[in-house]
Amino acid sequence: MIAATNVFLFHLTLSVLYIASTFPKPDPPIKITNLVVYVHNYFTGADASSITVAGKQNPTADAAGGFNILQFGTIAVVDDPVTEGPTAESKEIGRAQGSYINSQFDGKGLYLFFSVIFTGGQYAGSTLEIQGSDIFVRKEREFGIVSGTGFFRFVEGFGIMETAFIDVANLRAVLKLNLTVKQF
Ligand SMILES: *[C@@H]1O[C@H](CO)[C@@H](O)[C@H](O)[C@H]1NC(C)=O
Repeated sequence: MIAATNVFLFHLTLSVLYIASTFPKPDPPIKITNLVVYVHNYFTGADASSITVAGKQNPTADAAGGFNILQFGTIAVVDDPVTEGPTAESKEIGRAQGSYINSQFDGKGLYLFFSVIFTGGQYAGSTLEIQGSDIFVRKEREFGIVSGTGFFRFVEGFGIMETAFIDVANLRAVLKLNLTVKQF
């Protein structure tokens, strides 16, 4: 009798284990990564890292001696330092390389597309691809993060940009980028 009960319990245990193993497994959790970086966008000065390469107006009007990035139609190419904090002395952790196009008739909006190429810090060797509009007269501008490489493979996300410092006359700005990406 005891033996029969044990055999029955053994089979019951096997059945329960089998049924449990056939239930769908929960999806792996989505990983969210948030990081805040600062981009130093200078069109003038010894440390200038941005140039305008094409535009509608004659290229002499502004301090940079090029096409004015604040005019509709101007195209800039940038290789801007990316730092951990807002000051120039803050540790450089990468470069923002790509282009800005002034794409708003009244001159107050840019279309941005650039890579953040991390060279230092915990994401060194990885990149993020930024794309979106920057209506820079607004305090906060939201833009898209369309993909990435290395640690950021398969990511999608969004960023919020704020102007941390601006010297309009000399076309020098520090931009705070608060980046949030989702990894599947
Ligand atoms: C970054 O943005 C998130 C919202 O996406 C917000 O909760 C967080 O406080 C922001 N961080 C900083 C340092 O601004």
